[in-house]
Amino acid sequence: MTTVYGPVTDWATDFDHGDPEYNKNIHQIWETLKASGCPIAHTERYGGTWLPLTHEMVHEIAYDTDHFTSRNVVVGQLKPSQVEGAIPAPIGGAPPITSDPPFHAGARRLLLPAFSPKKIDPLRSKMEKMCNDLIDKMGDREHVDAALEYSQHIPVLIIAEMLGLPLEDADKFRGWVNLVLGNIGDERNEDRMAQFMEFDAYLHKHIADHVENPRDDLISFLLDSEMDGHKLLPEHVQGTVLLILIAGIDTTWSGIGSSLWHLATNAVDRRRLVENPEMIPQAVEEFLRAYAPVTMARLVREDVEFHGVQMKEEDWVLLPFPAANRDEAQFENADTVDIDREENRHAAFGLGIHRCIGSNLARLELNVAVETFLKRFPDFELNGSEEVTWSTGQVRGPRTLPFRVLSRS
Ligand code: HEM
Repeated sequence: MTTVYGPVTDWATDFDHGDPEYNKNIHQIWETLKASGCPIAHTERYGGTWLPLTHEMVHEIAYDTDHFTSRNVVVGQLKPSQVEGAIPAPIGGAPPITSDPPFHAGARRLLLPAFSPKKIDPLRSKMEKMCNDLIDKMGDREHVDAALEYSQHIPVLIIAEMLGLPLEDADKFRGWVNLVLGNIGDERNEDRMAQFMEFDAYLHKHIADHVENPRDDLISFLLDSEMDGHKLLPEHVQGTVLLILIAGIDTTWSGIGSSLWHLATNAVDRRRLVENPEMIPQAVEEFLRAYAPVTMARLVREDVEFHGVQMKEEDWVLLPFPAANRDEAQFENADTVDIDREENRHAAFGLGIHRCIGSNLARLELNVAVETFLKRFPDFELNGSEEVTWSTGQVRGPRTLPFRVLSRS
């Protein structure tokens, strides 16, 4: 699968983050782009898209909500004004990530208690059981797939349970996540539109059921929430449920997968973490920095000059937090994955007003997933005869991870 524009032949003049080669070779591609003498690349694809590569620029754009709007944060061929039936500002399709100030602050604030450490920490034992059950299911096979059989399941099950959606629909959720984040630039495809309508109807049905039968879960929490003394509009509730489902799945699954990929390809780090599990939280922060999964986007509000380039109204600007994390000006030996790194103020969870709300949950899932995998499989490596495949689009992570288990406990 490639983008509607076809494969990239020159990354410096015609890059496309939706080309399958982008995520696969991301670090070499950034090097090529930087070496071409331009820390902010441009492509005509998607009606004009910019890719700033330094921490300074990513930071500046993330904080500048006057010039850069979040009306849509996933690059596509269509701009929000061209999407039929799109929910208009200030709510947007997935509040608070698609909302700008001043509406954004209230839409964000109401979610914070649901993701506080007090709410999230008690989920640890449930996650440990889930991870152990997934490993039990692998039996005593020598060859396992740590993405298909492990990392992709953990966040889906947790988030479905938190929202109050049926766990047996996990496959559907993964399909819809891929629909939103995977096939970039494909919005006019009829099959894709039909799937979107199915997703919309599914959420509508389950929210309506929660209206009739309130329970102790996130959907009922949202239905009960107020902003400025009023209950949330139905499109606000549905957009936030959609956001939590999408944001909570692909991101963490990718983070777990990249961490395990690192451990499969770095025997020294693997051994050190097996022998010193107390080092895992610090190592996880380094995996988040070095393999940050999430790049979000902004739209230029009106024509503006930015670091010497002329951006036009409604141009897309990618915010590659992963590239900001590999900037030498911000991190010493930025391209070295160093699990002893102590000073690590990485941008994997974003910068500015939209910084990730789910970071407590994501960190817990990552820590438990890595800890349990290493406990049960103290030694493993890539199964060289099969290829590791990577996601396409704005969330980067391995989609298949063929491993050979060398020892188990
Ligand atoms: C490793 C896992 C994760 C990573 C790397 C990550 C990364 C990010 C990033 C970079 C942003 C900023 C987006 C922007 O500036 O436009 C963000 C926002 C957000 N994330 Fe996460 N995320 C992760 C997991 C989660 C989880 C588990 C949830 C919840 C279930 C979640 C919910 C959200 C929400 C609601 C926002 C929007 C916040 C706002 O607009 O104020 N994320 N995330």
